[in-house]
Amino acid sequence: MTTHLKNKSILLIITGSIAAYKCADLVRRLRERGAAVKCVMTQSAQEFITPLLMTSLSQQQVYTDLWSLKDETEMGHIRLSREADLILVAPASAHSLAKLAHGLCDDLASTVLMATDKPVIVAPAMNPMMWLNPATQDNVTILQQRGIDILNPAEGDMACGETGAGRMVEVADILHYLENRFQLQQALKGKRAVVTSGPTYEALDPVRFIGNFSSGKQGYAIAKALAMAGAETTLVSGPTPETPPAGVRLRRVMSANEMLEATLSALPADIVVCAAAVADWRPETVAADKIKKGMAKPQITLVENEDILKTVAGLGKKRPQLVIGFAAETANVRDHARKKLLAKKCDWILANDVGSGTGTFGGDFNTVHLLQQGKGGKISEAAWPKMTKQDVAAKLVGEIVKAL
Ligand code: CTP
Repeated sequence: MTTHLKNKSILLIITGSIAAYKCADLVRRLRERGAAVKCVMTQSAQEFITPLLMTSLSQQQVYTDLWSLKDETEMGHIRLSREADLILVAPASAHSLAKLAHGLCDDLASTVLMATDKPVIVAPAMNPMMWLNPATQDNVTILQQRGIDILNPAEGDMACGETGAGRMVEVADILHYLENRFQLQQALKGKRAVVTSGPTYEALDPVRFIGNFSSGKQGYAIAKALAMAGAETTLVSGPTPETPPAGVRLRRVMSANEMLEATLSALPADIVVCAAAVADWRPETVAADKIKKGMAKPQITLVENEDILKTVAGLGKKRPQLVIGFAAETANVRDHARKKLLAKKCDWILANDVGSGTGTFGGDFNTVHLLQQGKGGKISEAAWPKMTKQDVAAKLVGEIVKAL
């Protein structure tokens, strides 16, 4: 089995949720891949599974008590929080998320989390109403803003008899996430990256604009994956409610012109990924006052916006080493993408179908076709299966690492 988990050290914090039973399998699978796993269990976690079970499976001491004399003479909570490569909180109950978001530390698990300088990954598990509760959602946003990765719970039947989003992600998904994460770790250290993302809004008057349905999810996921791989990353983002990934320099813009300016001023870079759905045109004039209904039917004259991707790819000596674009199409996806690759002179294009039935715009999944132009001008193509936008981002960053 090829694995990036070999010799990695993982601290698994188990909190109080029925999904704690999945930790038994999780620990076995992690150890199978060569990872060492130490477990910390909260009091509530021990109501669901026993420390004895986790000791046997991990073949390591299980830690439960902040006040245990032996562990604390060795400064147990500090040591535990520092010696792991990564801390995984799975399952994370609503209560443990709240404590982590607000810095409460009244037991070993929460104290370790406060004392750590290592990446923290959280896999929540709770009743769907608890998950959707604004208090929980706000806590999740706080944690994301601090760079804590949340493995969003899956939808399905819950142990409590209700249905909805709240089930802890499956063990296979956690392993998949960890494999991706360790594979990319630090692979782009020393590199600079710029990502454009989201829609642009082109003002008509002080209250109206021409825009598009782009959510920015794909671009945000790419920026996050590049940062996780160690690249110094600037995210030039059009208007979107997405939570900015931690560790990324965010430049918020509104119009295509602002996006162009922000992108060029973020250079030099080694990698530029233009994932934004940039408006091709803007109104020639922006009315100073709100256009009123009673007036003559407005005639809007549009002028073309400069193509950011094409401009960056044509920078000559200052051209980034790898310039990557997207092709948002609703028909003849590959043909159009090939033409865009040649016309814009970028290195790669990720072509995706954004037709109304696909759910790509605004959705969590994407089906892309990667076109890569090699040194001699030869174009190679690869069809990627449908996957989450996070997985597309991780796979793309994997390709970038290979290419650089
Ligand atoms: N793009 C850009 N600046 C623009 C227009 C597009 O940087 N003014 C980039 C997009 O970010 C994407 C690529 O060009 O990486 C292709 O964008 P897309 O909207 O698919 O195509 P267009 O070039 O706008 O052509 P069309 O709208 O005719 O499909």
